[in-house]
Amino acid sequence: MNPASNLTFHVPTVSSADRERLLGQTGRVLWFTGLSGSGKSTLANATEAALHAAGRATFLLDGDNVRLGLNRDLGFSAQDRTENIRRIAEVAKLMADAGLVVLTAFVSPYAADRDAARAVVGEDRFVEIFVDTPLEECERRDPKGLYAKARAGQILDFTGISAPFEAPEAPNIHLLTAQRSVAECVYQILGSLPL
Ligand code: ADX
Repeated sequence: MNPASNLTFHVPTVSSADRERLLGQTGRVLWFTGLSGSGKSTLANATEAALHAAGRATFLLDGDNVRLGLNRDLGFSAQDRTENIRRIAEVAKLMADAGLVVLTAFVSPYAADRDAARAVVGEDRFVEIFVDTPLEECERRDPKGLYAKARAGQILDFTGISAPFEAPEAPNIHLLTAQRSVAECVYQILGSLPL
């Protein structure tokens, strides 16, 4: 039997629109996707700082931090990545319902998982941001030494080396990071948002 069959969704008295009115902003999810080492965390962090400085209520969900807590039972098989992204999408949706501008920084390599996240959050408030940094550049940076380990066969299923990255075909925002500074990318993001 479906475990959800005896559950009833309760409509709360305070609606999302009420909370948004109180905060004076619209709940949104800025979904950063890209290879490991592409700069997702750096850009999401800098974007959050700029939004916060502009008086927006924000929250940053970052890959490694979430994997150390909520998703510590998950690895990097295709199945586990799908579950990782599913949970993050649900958490981001709740936070957007709370009226926050949520920023997520996860590799999220599968297009179907990102599409599912968009469906959970809602098309109108989901902004897909492709942090488009060439694999060669990510591997040259190798901030955590993971590419070297993946090349040496010490990490299996490593995105870009031994596991796929399905680049977004029509992202809401496309950041060509090799040609731009962090500040320029943040400027591009803020200029593209209907905030
Ligand atoms: S996702 O694919 O499920 O979206 P997520 O963003 O949560 O990945 O985690 C990616 C981070 O985990 C990378 O930035 C890297 O630090 C680390 N990592 C460890 N093993 C792997 C792996 N096999 N593939 C990709 N990233 C890995």
